[in-house]
Amino acid sequence: MKIVVTLSLFLVFIFCLSQCSQSTHLEKQLTKPTSIEELGKLLFFDSLLSRGNQVSCASCHKPEFAFSDTTALSFGVDSAKGVRNTPSAMNLSSRSFHFWDGRAETLEEQASGPIENTVEMALPLSEVVRRLNKHEQYRSFFISIFGKIADKKNVVDALAAYERTLETNNSAFDNYMTEKDTMQFSAAAKRGRIIFNEKGKCFDCHFGPDFTGDQFRNIGLFNGKELNDSGRFIVTRKPTDLGKFKTPGLRNVSITGPYMHNGMHKTLKEVIDYYNEPDKFVSNSINRDSLLKKPLHLSVKEKLDLEAFLNSLTDKQFLKN
Ligand code: HEC
Ligand code: HEC
Repeated sequence: MKIVVTLSLFLVFIFCLSQCSQSTHLEKQLTKPTSIEELGKLLFFDSLLSRGNQVSCASCHKPEFAFSDTTALSFGVDSAKGVRNTPSAMNLSSRSFHFWDGRAETLEEQASGPIENTVEMALPLSEVVRRLNKHEQYRSFFISIFGKIADKKNVVDALAAYERTLETNNSAFDNYMTEKDTMQFSAAAKRGRIIFNEKGKCFDCHFGPDFTGDQFRNIGLFNGKELNDSGRFIVTRKPTDLGKFKTPGLRNVSITGPYMHNGMHKTLKEVIDYYNEPDKFVSNSINRDSLLKKPLHLSVKEKLDLEAFLNSLTDKQFLKN
């Protein structure tokens, strides 16, 4: 008798468990989106877009780190390790190329990349579309936003529309430039700005409102040996493009480390030490830009000032959200 009672209690317990997990799965109430951007946001944070529902875009592009990751290389489904550092997915609306090698020219084109990439989300886009149309809420969201059910095009359109909302323009530097608040921009940051523009030659590549000229340059992180990511060359096959990478924008850079396509520098201090004397880090680089030919000879104080300037590009308002 006792055994029967225990057994039946146990079965009831198991039944409840399966029902509970099923109902949270089925009834995870999503907020009904009122725009393409809001629908894109739901998708960006939903692991339904990955094999085995393991990761979402936000697993690697974390909002609290300006939509980047804190590891040199990120992990995708089944803990597969990626081969490049996760860049910030912010301030991309004016970019003409995406990915470190620029292989996608629009955010729409970009979005299908991580979904299908076997070390990221590892799911064919057609399967994502099928899942969304099987999901009662998403099915109705797509109909109400696009006037039709999900398809390969509107899924990436929604993701891209959300990404275009991720613009930041409220850093200490911005507020100094617009005279909204000139106090936050410290004296050190002011001196650092001059070093950035002149002695450090940073501005020669990191120019424009988002501190990127949208060009492919080689700062010396390719030697064909242990540093063997040939960057832009993979796309164009031009020998002059060996080791060139997209110059990344520098907004919010204080919180997007580790840095570079391979995440080799942990801190901005290290990045500045690198630019100060690249040969100290990589002495056998191939095709390094002539701007980085000679050491910069920055003093300790100049390095700190330059770092203060880079720190002033962080939009704190966005961090609070
Ligand atoms: C497993 C980690 C991971 C996941 C998940 C992931 N990404 Fe990425 N993302 C990366 C890495 C790494 C790169 C750089 C790859 C490269 O340059 O080859 C990248 C690059 C990007 C870029 C290009 C930024 C630029 O302009 O250079 C965008 C935009 C982006 N991801 C958006 C997304 C979206 C949207 C999703 C979800 C559909 C997503 N990512 C999912 C790791 C990830
Ligand atoms: C010749 C052009 C060029 C010059 C000059 C240059 N950069 Fe860069 N910068 C790049 C490129 C290209 C990358 C990406 C390189 C890679 O990943 O291999 C980069 C990467 C960075 C990164 C890493 C950003 C991230 O998200 O990973 C920082 C920070 C940075 N640069 C700051 C500076 C500073 C500070 C200076 C001046 C001392 C400077 N850069 C000078 C082209 C340049």
